[in-house]
Amino acid sequence: MNRPPVTPESNRLAAIILAAGQGTRMKSTRAKVLFEVAGEPMIAWPVRRALGMGADPVVVVVGHQAETVEAAVEARFPGRTRAALQAERLGTGHAARTGLDTLPDFQGVVLILYGDVPLLEEKSLRSLIACVGSNRPVAVMTTELPDPTGYGRILRDEAGNVTRIVEHKDATEAERKVSEVNAGIYAVESNFLRSALSRLKSDNAQGEYYVTDIVDLARGDGLEVAGELVDAEEVQGANDRRQLAQLERLARRRAVERHLAAGVSFLDPETTWVGPEVEIGVDAVIHAGVHLRGKTSVGAGCIVDVGSVLTDARLEPEAVVHPYSVIEGASMGPRSQLGPFGRLRPAARLEAGARVGNFVEVKKATLGEGAKANHLAYIGDAEVGPGANLGAGTITCNYDGVGKYRTEVGEGVFVGSNSTLVAPLSIGKGAYVAAGSVLTDPVPEDALALGRARQVVKSDRAPSVRAAAVKRKAQKPE
Ligand code: UD1
Ligand code: MG
Repeated sequence: MNRPPVTPESNRLAAIILAAGQGTRMKSTRAKVLFEVAGEPMIAWPVRRALGMGADPVVVVVGHQAETVEAAVEARFPGRTRAALQAERLGTGHAARTGLDTLPDFQGVVLILYGDVPLLEEKSLRSLIACVGSNRPVAVMTTELPDPTGYGRILRDEAGNVTRIVEHKDATEAERKVSEVNAGIYAVESNFLRSALSRLKSDNAQGEYYVTDIVDLARGDGLEVAGELVDAEEVQGANDRRQLAQLERLARRRAVERHLAAGVSFLDPETTWVGPEVEIGVDAVIHAGVHLRGKTSVGAGCIVDVGSVLTDARLEPEAVVHPYSVIEGASMGPRSQLGPFGRLRPAARLEAGARVGNFVEVKKATLGEGAKANHLAYIGDAEVGPGANLGAGTITCNYDGVGKYRTEVGEGVFVGSNSTLVAPLSIGKGAYVAAGSVLTDPVPEDALALGRARQVVKSDRAPSVRAAAVKRKAQKPE
């Protein structure tokens, strides 16, 4: 057989990710690999892992709901993967071959991964790849399970080499007692893989082409097969919703552990939820019940207090999010503060030291350095200058029912409580807005603006008003 050894020159990596199955036991109209773990479809996990390890090409074998699965991958990794359509599901060996057929010229190591096994670590895959050598074209990832029912069993010789993988349905009673199972993840030298997959037969209990038979074929060619044992959690897949819920819990715990190891404090790891793409700086403190989602990044020394939910948020160092605040697609500058009960919506930006307090909503608006909106306000489509103060109840009326308009508030402006700023509006630097104003016209720099009815005071009138009220009450039948 024409099979050159794996040398540094052929040190290339490709990945084939099997994702054609339906996942019947999910009892869903949705393809299994599209179910989410930690907010990401399962298929995205192995794809990201393979791409992150420099695999090129990365092939996703699709079948059931092929277009939807392909679109989900493309949406997350545009132009970085290719899809191979397995029109008929004839088994894992056939699926691998369908993938490999799209790489006719590839030379190097091919990783075979499952689309429904999200938690694989790079380190384990690197060790698996390192097992592949000139006399060992195949390395199989294995794990030990207390109940191995249903899995392919790993049979080894005295030297520890894998001699065979026998599927549960094809196994003898003695073989079924083996607790080391095939995780379904392989690293295989490309030329051997091409030759082996073309030689597979479907003469087994399920009438399928088993990728596992490449072990037999390697042995028949006088070659060795390595088995790399990993932690069962890492290769846990999701066949049903119970296992999916387990994966969710595992994913959460692993993410928290990763950040704990990197110098982040979690006050209640069990109730904290951290997505796979979240970044957190050293000495940040994450309190109970916090959810960090999407591409959120939390800078060094930040505090995210109880019950806050951050999605695609960026917190610069020492920003503080007080309890029960919600941020989506917004950013907080160094030492800025939000909440309690604060809300930053997309494109909100708090510059350094700015402060947004309770029951304040900010959307598509920037609060300059040290600016404040501490209570009960809505700030939308606005630019608020450094040091400005928006009093309690300040509302930007950014929408007239048809279009959106901007409000500009200059540096050092003071807006009194319960003011209504009807956009488009600009308030010049240093201006002062009286409480309770409704402003529709521009306010120049350093001006005082009053937009309210003048107060009237009538001396000594209170007693007669009170007497009239008493009389009214007495006449009213109960
Ligand atoms: C497979 C292994 C078994 C291993 C187990 C680990 C074989 C023959 N057996 O069994 O040794 O212990 O995984 O989970 O490989 N798929 C396709 N196209 C197909 C068939 C499958 O894309 O034609 C995909 C499925 O979507 C799934 C994966 O391959 O993601 C595994 O297929 P599945 O049928 O679940 O294999 P098992 O019987 O579990
Ligand atoms: Mg399976």
